[in-house]
Amino acid sequence: MGDIQKWWHSSVVYQIYPKSFNDSNSDGIGDIQGIISKLPYLKYLGIDVIWLTPIYQSPEIDGGYDISDYYSINPKYGTMTDFEELIQKSSELGIKIIMDLVLNHTSDLHRWFQEASKSRDNPYHDYYIWSDESTNLQSNFTGSAWEYVPHLEQFYLHFYSKEQPDLNWENPNLRNEIYKMINFWISKGVAGFRLDVIDLIGKKPFEGIKENGPQLHNYLQEMYTHCFKGKNLMTVGETWGATIENAPLYSRPDRNELSMIFQFEQINLDKIPGGQRWDLKELDLQDLKQVFSKWQLGLENNGWNSLFWNNHDLPRIVSRWGNDNGYYRTLSAKMLAILLHGMKGTPYIYQGEEIGMTNPNFPSLEYYSDIETKNIIEERLAKGDDPKKLLRAIQLKARDSGRTPMQWDDTKFAGFSDTEPWTQLSPNFESITVKQALKDNDSIFYTYQFLVNLRKTNGTLRLGKFELLEFDHPHVFAYRRTSHNETLYIICNFHQVETDFSLDTSNLKVLYSNYQDIQLSNKIGLRPYEAIILTDKKE
Ligand code: GLC
Ligand code: CA
Repeated sequence: MGDIQKWWHSSVVYQIYPKSFNDSNSDGIGDIQGIISKLPYLKYLGIDVIWLTPIYQSPEIDGGYDISDYYSINPKYGTMTDFEELIQKSSELGIKIIMDLVLNHTSDLHRWFQEASKSRDNPYHDYYIWSDESTNLQSNFTGSAWEYVPHLEQFYLHFYSKEQPDLNWENPNLRNEIYKMINFWISKGVAGFRLDVIDLIGKKPFEGIKENGPQLHNYLQEMYTHCFKGKNLMTVGETWGATIENAPLYSRPDRNELSMIFQFEQINLDKIPGGQRWDLKELDLQDLKQVFSKWQLGLENNGWNSLFWNNHDLPRIVSRWGNDNGYYRTLSAKMLAILLHGMKGTPYIYQGEEIGMTNPNFPSLEYYSDIETKNIIEERLAKGDDPKKLLRAIQLKARDSGRTPMQWDDTKFAGFSDTEPWTQLSPNFESITVKQALKDNDSIFYTYQFLVNLRKTNGTLRLGKFELLEFDHPHVFAYRRTSHNETLYIICNFHQVETDFSLDTSNLKVLYSNYQDIQLSNKIGLRPYEAIILTDKKE
């Protein structure tokens, strides 16, 4: 691919779930002005891009992923003027904004769907997908993917809730409306987009095809031509159906589709094959090494990786691969940051990750209110699942866990708001806060700050070749990054044990680590969750 440098090759993205980030007007709901007031904090962290999850008009059946008007801002979050101010103020700080595009479905309250469901010959009817009969396609939120509309004597397709009817991308008028809307946001000054469940848009429901439909890449190339071409935008597609085989189709530069995708193989490692995300299996470090190195090598000359541990749909990483309880929380959160940020790609930090926020582990099922979580609880209890076992799976995997309010300080509502937040705070909100992290030179925050800055200054981190080391080591995930003038070693002990790692360190020095006093010899003795970056650069 040559070495075409793009701005996102040295950027770090910070993902904001606005509803839970910061409330400026005391209604318990995070908002745009709340984000604006925290821009200096984000600048201090060093990130250069913010990805905002949807802030459009929405009845919020699915956290804003059910859009009823693509052109307006949800009044709970503010106004278009607030949004313009956000673009302006962040650009003054050198921070770009990317928006979330939800193109697979709309809300059932969207004008198109309201029209579409009036009659079979309404001009908007064909913007959605209808059938005289239902098939056995299942919704990702449980139950049938078909909903019956009696007066039409037809079913419509919804891969998510029944309030999220799927759009019919085969209709060229629909596609043109979508491109027009994307261009509206580009003209507002956004720097790119995250494209929600984009690998579903080529669906062929009557052939049972959800992801990776035959027209998917044609649609993306058409979108590129109509919207992205020549504008230097960063685009990232959410693709649960991505494999290392089909991933280059999206992000190989000559394909003219997207800058990169989010693939989820490292996320699915605690799932029993063929099961749902709630059917858990033990995590295995060898699986993690295998998946990451496959993606690092697979897209080496063939596209570009996104690097993430967390997002608004996922539980907290320190509660999964780390140790979220007590002393080792800080060390393990730093280790996970070092592992991820040492790789090639664009790293994403999800709000609260930089202070090591944990899963809330709420004590009973009633605390969990996300639509996906509620549906699965209902379905599994009806099937006779053991409620205790179910609660454990929900604590570990529910989307709610990433959506508890941001913990700014230890005041009554965590500095998120001065009134009761829309959703429960995590019980540990008094002990894990931004305020505390900023005061402590040795906090997780400063590890993230170091790593974000290193990506800007270190070419090896950006473009160096990746090689996995000692695949068979039971505790250590280690790899090497090599460029023409430097070799970096990233060595991470994933477990709460002491272990050795053999390496000729005679020409190496420590660039960063999560412990003090490292003694280098040809056998590095690693303490619990110890992580070290070594370099052979002299100066
Ligand atoms: C994506 C979003 C998720 C949403 C779903 C349907 O996976 O990240 O939050 O529920 O798409 O839009
Ligand atoms: Ca508010």
